[in-house]
Amino acid sequence: MTDGQRQYGPLGTTLVIIPTYNEAENIKPIVSRVRSAVPEAHVLVADDNSPDGTGKLADELAAEDDQIHVLHRKGKEGLGAAYLAGFRWGIDNGYGVLVEMDADGSHQPEELPRLLTALKGADLVLGSRWVPGGRTVNWPKYRQLISRGGSTYSRLALDLPLRDVTGGFRAFRAQALKGLGLDDVASQGYCFQVDLARRAVQAGYHVVEVPITFVEREYGDSKMSRDIVVEALWRVTAWGVGSRVDKLRGR
Ligand code: GDD
Ligand code: MN
Repeated sequence: MTDGQRQYGPLGTTLVIIPTYNEAENIKPIVSRVRSAVPEAHVLVADDNSPDGTGKLADELAAEDDQIHVLHRKGKEGLGAAYLAGFRWGIDNGYGVLVEMDADGSHQPEELPRLLTALKGADLVLGSRWVPGGRTVNWPKYRQLISRGGSTYSRLALDLPLRDVTGGFRAFRAQALKGLGLDDVASQGYCFQVDLARRAVQAGYHVVEVPITFVEREYGDSKMSRDIVVEALWRVTAWGVGSRVDKLRGR
């Protein structure tokens, strides 16, 4: 079946999931930008008990707006675990679209309508820095290298027809997310994003990349660490080797 022939149902209500760890300066501005850019969408802040009080600030927002929700988690367990908990919450509460978005302003809520429009004809839309029209602003050269290198390595090791495999600005149909086998996702750090992209392609879903402008944060710090890069390298390599062995064995 070609993509043009696929029938896509209506999108349903959107839930924008924002994982946070120490984003006190960023949480209020980003949530209010989402509420203005996509007024019909709901927001779920998934906070890992941030020492800087981000969770409390999110509670203040939720108290005044019934489209804002907060998931308090007991401690820092990584981006992957926070998103998995957020996805479960969203699926259990009947949302039709689940969006991933960073809290620090790198993903611009004003670009979200373009992602949602593309999702009308897709299962998953990736905001992409590395397709024509996509770009980064104020992102240090070494981060661009890690991101481009990580995407290229993942694309080749895993045979993915995608340019920005590690990005974190995405819109999923809930129906597609349910088909990804979320219960056995073990990835914790940013390689969680590679894991979901890989699962979506393997499941035969229609994945579309939409160019975005990624703007480096002004406040607070990145949680990127050596451990996160090491986890991504070994997991991507293991997935790549595993799928080649499967192919050789004719599976
Ligand atoms: N709940 C929770 N727990 N949130 C977390 C954790 C965690 O352990 N670690 C990071 N976050 C949140 C941050 O608070 C932020 O909202 C978002 O996840 C992204 O974290 P950053 O630390 O700002 O990521 P980055 O700018 O270094 O990385 C960007 O590039 C990566 C590689 O391409 C992001 O776009 C990532 O999504 C992307 O994977
Ligand atoms: Mn960031």
